[in-house]
Amino acid sequence: MKFFVDTAEIDAIAELNDLGMLDGVTTNPSLIMKSGRDILEVIKEICDLVSGPVSAEVVALEAEAMIAEGRKLAGIAENIAVKVPLTWDGLKACKVLSGEGKMVNVTLCFSANQALLAAKAGATFISPFIGRLDDINIDGLDLIADIREIYDNYGFETQILAASIRSPNHMSECAKIGADVATAPPSVIKAMANHVLTDKGLEGFLKDAAKAGIKIV
Ligand code: E4P
Repeated sequence: MKFFVDTAEIDAIAELNDLGMLDGVTTNPSLIMKSGRDILEVIKEICDLVSGPVSAEVVALEAEAMIAEGRKLAGIAENIAVKVPLTWDGLKACKVLSGEGKMVNVTLCFSANQALLAAKAGATFISPFIGRLDDINIDGLDLIADIREIYDNYGFETQILAASIRSPNHMSECAKIGADVATAPPSVIKAMANHVLTDKGLEGFLKDAAKAGIKIV
């Protein structure tokens, strides 16, 4: 499973990228707002840093306007994936932009039918939002499993990009189901390294190392 990081914070992206953990980046208008920076400037900086796909989201509602925004965003760098919402107009924009050879990430997906339409429209990525479904008492992971089954039934090449990930458990469950990509905030990716028994074991080993006077350098 590929790892994308869901942030527009350059330092966090650089840290994960330097570790070789990063296969791409996703942003959305809320994350851009949080960064307090101009969208075109921050997206360009991310694209200079990361070689994998960088999702940048349109803000128009109508297909023609989304296409114009998508072309502008795609002009920033070769590795831009234009993010369009899963609306009828978004699907039209997806069809046109993917037909021009641009990567398209169809976002705000909450049903298997929506994912089916995005694949038919030529999406490179479909972004089902797990956490936001969990928030309304619908199991978001079930949606990932349903889309996996449907895409495999028909050999769709659209990659399942599990989004709105809130916990390390979401990450491992997505990997078990077979999501192609998971995008998560930096804090969730880092939390994947944590285990209470690792902390407890390390404490014991360090105590014994001190007792034994072990020094290595
Ligand atoms: C994905 O591309 C979105 O930016 C993101 O995962 C949304 O997550 P949230 O529901 O935590 O805002």
